[in-house]
Amino acid sequence: MIKETKIFCAIDTSDLDQACALSRQIAPVTGGIKLGLEFFNAFGLHGVERVMKATPDVQLFMDMKYHDIPNTVAGAVRAICENFALAYLNVHAVGGRAMMEAAKDACGDKTKLLAVTLLTSLDDAAIEEIGYCSGLAQRVEQLAVLARDVGLDGVVCSAHEIALLRVACGNDFVLMVPGIRPKGAAKDDQKRVMSPKEALAVGATHLVIGRPITGAPDPAEAAANILAGL
Ligand code: C5P
Repeated sequence: MIKETKIFCAIDTSDLDQACALSRQIAPVTGGIKLGLEFFNAFGLHGVERVMKATPDVQLFMDMKYHDIPNTVAGAVRAICENFALAYLNVHAVGGRAMMEAAKDACGDKTKLLAVTLLTSLDDAAIEEIGYCSGLAQRVEQLAVLARDVGLDGVVCSAHEIALLRVACGNDFVLMVPGIRPKGAAKDDQKRVMSPKEALAVGATHLVIGRPITGAPDPAEAAANILAGL
């Protein structure tokens, strides 16, 4: 039985059988997997159930990024948490205090609730275009501190925000970080990457790693090598 894990492997595939096979190989090594919107919209609750049946002991992070009025988000959170024992789930911090509070109330104490601050695909020009005037880093910090004040367990953040948020939000706060690449691995479409060891050293608590594991000839071996290098 796997209890705690630092690495959540992103299973991003449009083939459900492949998702189950990958989970079976990877979960015993990492202890954690992440399924996202693409997976959920393609395969729904049935797909999640299949993966959980394939790997019942895994810690599951559902990267759903909910953002709607508080009542609707609470209903969505309740529905998914009633169906599965999730380790982590997330909502958008820009949904605001009341939405995050409603989500937190709905998810119960077995699931850790994280906030997405600003999507890492947005740069300074893009956030100005949607009406945010202060700089990107300041906005990310403000949203992370709000999420912490509401009682959320942490945030999903990019590697270059780890140090800032560790100081702003204190030590008892989950920083779940995608965009992680072992030294020498292909960056794929990630722009700013950090190695697993560096990310943990500057204050990340958990890492989301996809293609460096799922795209390797032997995914279990790739995951084991990453863990060995920490
Ligand atoms: O394959 P790779 O390691 O790049 O996968 C990273 C995972 O983390 C993907 O599922 C991606 O959607 C997700 N993610 C991300 N950047 C964010 C939030 C989520 O790469 N800011």
